[in-house]
Amino acid sequence: MQKTTYRVGIVGATGMVGQRFVTLLDHHPLFRPVALLASARSAGKRYEEAVGKKWAMQCPIPAYAKDMPVMDAEADAEKLVGTVDFIFCAVNMKKEEIKALEERYAKLEIPVVSNNSAHRATPDVPMVIPEINADHLAVIAAQRKRLGTKRGFIAVKSNCSLQSYVPLLHPLKKFGIKCAAVTTYQAISGAGKTFETMPEIIDNVIPYIGGEEQKSEEEPLKIWGCVENGTIVSAKAPVITAQCLRVPVSDGHTAAVFVSFEKKPTKEEILTAWAEFAGEPQALCLPSAPKQFIHYFEEENRPQAKLDRMVENGMAVCAGRLREDALFDYKFIGLSHNTLRGAAGGAVLLAELLAAKHYFD
Ligand SMILES: NC(=O)c1ccc[n+]([C@@H]2O[C@H](COP(=O)([O-])OP(=O)(O)OC[C@H]3O[C@@H](n4cnc5c(N)ncnc54)[C@H](OP(=O)(O)O)[C@@H]3O)[C@@H](O)[C@H]2O)c1
Repeated sequence: MQKTTYRVGIVGATGMVGQRFVTLLDHHPLFRPVALLASARSAGKRYEEAVGKKWAMQCPIPAYAKDMPVMDAEADAEKLVGTVDFIFCAVNMKKEEIKALEERYAKLEIPVVSNNSAHRATPDVPMVIPEINADHLAVIAAQRKRLGTKRGFIAVKSNCSLQSYVPLLHPLKKFGIKCAAVTTYQAISGAGKTFETMPEIIDNVIPYIGGEEQKSEEEPLKIWGCVENGTIVSAKAPVITAQCLRVPVSDGHTAAVFVSFEKKPTKEEILTAWAEFAGEPQALCLPSAPKQFIHYFEEENRPQAKLDRMVENGMAVCAGRLREDALFDYKFIGLSHNTLRGAAGGAVLLAELLAAKHYFD
């Protein structure tokens, strides 16, 4: 039987994604935050004091978190043993430092559900969009063997950019996707910024986000891969080419997508595939699962980041403007909330899936 509540630590609790965790876990039906951790700069302070002017959520700091003492994610790791059932991790550190930190927690038998990119390419670490590749959790058994753990493991969610187009391409794979070209228009919260901390974005578009295009092209192939002999073998196709731009939007990544198929579907077949698509989160009625994963807008000027990013509490993926194209078969627009579906919300949904499948027992 599934436990009814799990004690949770939030590592990186003072950051943009960490703040989302702090708000999403307020009154969560399964997860109870019992430890907030950040850098040595914040350690020892009350959460409200540590986060200070960096608080970027629309709502006030939840009452439960205000007075919680912030712990040092590196120096206090051992103190979490026996006090949490698992942790969420979203930290801004060097890749090798994050890799080491996450493995350290896993080896302390504390499962890690991570937003960081450090372990996304590790072959026995599942990178999961719960509606698409829940079956990849099977690789955790091999990872535990490598780490020498009974409970501890690392599971990650994918980069936020691709959540605005991979969920829309996925139900179309049955038509044989040959290739896709994507341009993403990414919100500043994706860089952990607000308009106050990123004034250079006002009246501007910045045509470069370090590392983002590679992640946007490669990560979908791992998500579409399969578990073989204790590792995830990435799919070889379809080829995706991506350009990623930073735009003056607070939250919500938009994607302009062009796609060609082996067997070109009709527009109605695409709309039906989107309308009917559901995954394990919907089948299991997980608390954070959107009831309808893909929302299609008929209006020509939708979806819009400002109007539509919060559909289904920011956990749905929106689509619009599906039409035939002169070079590719079709083109359309996608939208997802980058710090909800694309970050903390996606990680909470992944943790709900892991709990339902007894990985935290
Ligand atoms: N923002 C998004 O939409 C998004 C989406 C997907 C994934 N991510 C990933 O999530 C992670 C966090 O992103 P973010 O936007 O939340 O960053 P952020 O706002 O800069 O927050 C970073 C967090 O990391 C903590 N930290 C920094 N150095 C540390 C150290 N040495 N030890 C322990 N904690 C340390 C910070 O604590 P202090 O406050 O004490 O400095 C803060 O809590 C990154 O890996 C990012 O790539 C972000």
